[in-house]
Amino acid sequence: MIKTTILFLVITLLLASHKQKEKGLKDLFEDSFFIGVALNGRQVSSEDSKVNALIEGNFNSLSPENGLKWALVHPQPESYHFEFGDAYVALGEQLNAFTIGHCLVWHQQVPDWVFEDETGALVDKEELYSRMRTHIQTVAGRYKGKIQGWDVVNEAFNEDGSFRESKWFQIAGSDFIKEAFRNAAKADPEAELYYNDYNVWKASKRNGILDFAKEMKAEGIKIDAIGMQGHYQLESPSLEEIERGIIDIHEAGFKVMITELDVDVLPRPRSAEGADLNMNFANSEEYNPYKDGISPEAEAKLAQRYADIFAIFEKHKDKITRVTFWGLSDRNSWLNNFPVRGRTNYPLLFDRNLDPKKEVFEKLAGVIR
Ligand code: XIL
Repeated sequence: MIKTTILFLVITLLLASHKQKEKGLKDLFEDSFFIGVALNGRQVSSEDSKVNALIEGNFNSLSPENGLKWALVHPQPESYHFEFGDAYVALGEQLNAFTIGHCLVWHQQVPDWVFEDETGALVDKEELYSRMRTHIQTVAGRYKGKIQGWDVVNEAFNEDGSFRESKWFQIAGSDFIKEAFRNAAKADPEAELYYNDYNVWKASKRNGILDFAKEMKAEGIKIDAIGMQGHYQLESPSLEEIERGIIDIHEAGFKVMITELDVDVLPRPRSAEGADLNMNFANSEEYNPYKDGISPEAEAKLAQRYADIFAIFEKHKDKITRVTFWGLSDRNSWLNNFPVRGRTNYPLLFDRNLDPKKEVFEKLAGVIR
């Protein structure tokens, strides 16, 4: 009797663990698209078994949250820091994950020296291109065959579809975007190459991006996908706007990727409304309302929002190849410190204890049923 009970228990446990494996996020959407996660340095080299199990069980694509950005990987002209990148691609290989590089050319997290000569004046286009070429060849070249897709240029457009007045643009005009893609294609001819931006759901911005991407393609420059970052809020953008974005990118001839998905559940302070964005908001009742735990109402809204968004993604799974979450758990999300510092946010699918949010997962499972 005891033996039978024990045997029964063991089988139940085995089945349960097997079932749990099967029910990871990536398995839920295995017929739809890759499910990715952005990882930081601690997670990439983690010895915490819960962290490792979470990554392995739920994600089949990886993104580097910060570690491959110019300022981190190439802080000085002659100095590169590849510790993160090497560990990151090793993890990608170990998990057999679709491994993303982020990002080669951006106006943020790039050191000033890239744009300046020894007197501090802006360099000319030729010098800038030489620095860009060295950077891309060295970084994308090192991970050739190990990184399957690169965000080549990040956030080069304004909301109205015009070019952002970055130092890249000031020095080289819009051609810097093409030059970055030309270099990336040379550094790793096999890698997919992406243009990545936020608010791609806005028609004006999207039109600017797509016109330029089509122009590049017509000139024979390799560009495979447009990444919609997907930093969303509970109420905005509308589902129609998200859907329109996906359809438009597809119709323009590019793959669609959701590259940095999260849902901000906190009220957004606007500097226009008088909030001082430099202050710490930890003790603000108004802007940090869930510092001791999210309310059931807000959690329910989050679950519904994710279900609604994934229903759109599912509907267009023939156009979308990857959906990546910007962070593993609420504990790690950049939204605890953006757009203001010191808040307690709940934008992801795993909570601060790394446990799955039950209500969100139940709703999500409903989407593909
Ligand atoms: C963010 C990181 O998550 C933060 O840790 C860092 O302090 C700033 O950058 N768009 C992007 C990402 O393309 O690289 C940004 O990541 C979030 C917005």
